[in-house]
Amino acid sequence: MKKTALSNYEFTKWAELWYKDCSIKSRLLQKYRPFICPFKDLLELIPDDVDSMLDVGCGNGFFSLLALQYNKISNATGIDLNSNSISNAKKAFATQKMHISGTAKFISSEAELFTNSTKFDAIVMIDVLHHVPSIEVISFVERYVKLLADNGTLIIKDMGVNSWWRKAANQLHDLVIAREWIHHIPPTQLVEMLKKSELCLSKDKYFEWNTYWYEHYAFTYSKKA
Ligand SMILES: C[S@@+](CC[C@H](N)C(=O)[O-])C[C@H]1O[C@@H](n2cnc3c(N)ncnc32)[C@H](O)[C@@H]1O
Repeated sequence: MKKTALSNYEFTKWAELWYKDCSIKSRLLQKYRPFICPFKDLLELIPDDVDSMLDVGCGNGFFSLLALQYNKISNATGIDLNSNSISNAKKAFATQKMHISGTAKFISSEAELFTNSTKFDAIVMIDVLHHVPSIEVISFVERYVKLLADNGTLIIKDMGVNSWWRKAANQLHDLVIAREWIHHIPPTQLVEMLKKSELCLSKDKYFEWNTYWYEHYAFTYSKKA
């Protein structure tokens, strides 16, 4: 498989190809998503030795498919509550798999995932925690971290809170796109919550980015053996 440099322009070309059989709305959202969400930087956070990755709240599966395309992983599993998004992810992978050797599985049932209790080298949660009720965030993370292999990597990316107007713009974005009034989780609060839980996680790195009016943060954690 040919290894190419990561570029948002190239990502839009993949989105056009992979989501060609999906609705116009899904196609446009995926095509422009890398300009809003720093997929390029997030792909770089996946360690070199990762084979399998679980993408929690994977949406249409674009991040997982990019991770496969750029040889960051060889095996992706995506889970999302939204069955329409899962169906889009499956269609997109059906197009992609003709050209790559990796595998991907997209599911909407937690039961299936937890029954198999397969362990993953990496788990990513990209812009999903602000959709989970605040009171359930830690139990949500704890549930999935049980599926992280020893020494595995957890990557959490969410929306920043440093600027009130960026925060408001993001709330407006989700109100229009997801028809949901989301609740930001300040990174400091998230770190404190994760520290108190018994996840055997150690925080490795913290990142911040701004894209247009969107503010992002990400943490990488490792699971102690
Ligand atoms: C902003 S989208 C992000 C999608 C994808 N991670 C990406 O970055 O393109 C948030 C996704 O989280 C999903 N979601 C929300 N709550 C969830 C839950 N409790 N379990 C699984 N997925 C969830 C939504 O259905 C939606 O697809």
